[in-house]
Amino acid sequence: MIYLDNAATSYPKPDIVHNEMLRCMREYCANPGRGGHILSNKAGDSVMRVREIISRFFNFDNPLNLCFTKNATEAINIALKGFLKHGDHVITTAMEHNSVLRPLKTMERDDGIELTILRGDRYGRINPEAFRSAVRENTRLIVCTLSSNVNGVIMPVKEIGNVAREQGIAFLVDVSQGAGSIAIDVEDMKIDMLAFPGHKGLLGPQGTGGLYVREGLILKPMTQGGTGSNSENVFQPDFMPDLLESGTINTPGIVGLGCGIDFIDTFGIENLRLYKHMLVQRLHGRLKDIPGVILYSIDDINENSGIVAINIGQLDSNEVSYTLDRKFGIAVRAGLHCSPFAHETLGTLGRGIVRFSIGCFNTFEEIDLAAAAVADIAASCRTY
Ligand code: ALA
Repeated sequence: MIYLDNAATSYPKPDIVHNEMLRCMREYCANPGRGGHILSNKAGDSVMRVREIISRFFNFDNPLNLCFTKNATEAINIALKGFLKHGDHVITTAMEHNSVLRPLKTMERDDGIELTILRGDRYGRINPEAFRSAVRENTRLIVCTLSSNVNGVIMPVKEIGNVAREQGIAFLVDVSQGAGSIAIDVEDMKIDMLAFPGHKGLLGPQGTGGLYVREGLILKPMTQGGTGSNSENVFQPDFMPDLLESGTINTPGIVGLGCGIDFIDTFGIENLRLYKHMLVQRLHGRLKDIPGVILYSIDDINENSGIVAINIGQLDSNEVSYTLDRKFGIAVRAGLHCSPFAHETLGTLGRGIVRFSIGCFNTFEEIDLAAAAVADIAASCRTY
């Protein structure tokens, strides 16, 4: 099996991730923050260590300004629903995933928020000045993806952050694609809220993720419940992370996530970025000369987080991915990738796209085999 679906979930994981998760389950997986006994303290200390790893990784001072979630979708929902009020205007982009679009469209329909969705060029690129032009008197939030999950196009997050800060607007960034291969600095990029999944580029397990919230920004919690703190109070504590983090958290998953980030730090995020890009370039290079192949991604390290997006002739993307899987043992994702407006932008809403998403464990040989498989399919269909 050649696994090229890393934008959905990275696979495989570094050995340290599963080894430490297993050790946690066997040796210290008591309830973190509850109990006060030695095992509970050990679980709590392990979770705290991961908060510290993540705060260094994204460059924020206080590791407690982070709530763990089960994925980026949950983090984005906590941010949007906890921050926005009736009458607020939000600016976002057509390259967002449904994890952003669906809560925003639902809040536009049901809760009286106003929404502007900026369209990009044929690759989805958006000039940061478009955000400035869209600002209204009641604009309270800009929401933007770091990189598209459809074609990997990278958004100018730092420049958009400057616009947001100058205008006094909060800035939420979804780093589902790109975290782990693009260095993210919430201070430098002027990011007020950062939503991330653990199971993609950060190399952790599914069921992990988190939301960073800038010091002083108070969100209304979506969930109330036990925190192990202030138990005499029947209302939710007002301090982070307890404000946003009710109920027992996923200790083994969080421990695994910490090891995934340790792995990235050991190799160096820039090295991983360069390696992934060599593979992206190689695949682009091999595919661009195959008759019938249409490319929707950009072959430039500064504009692509690690995705090669194609179609072949008139073939439906699902048909191609099925053949890649069953005939060639190559796992990709086709269809609309939960990002309808991105596909509208790329002109592929009808049949979707075949997405090859590259991970740090892929090899040059796998890339060459994937390109050869595409050439084989293109030669046998000849519908172009
Ligand atoms: N959002 C993930 C993807 O793009 C699941 O495949």
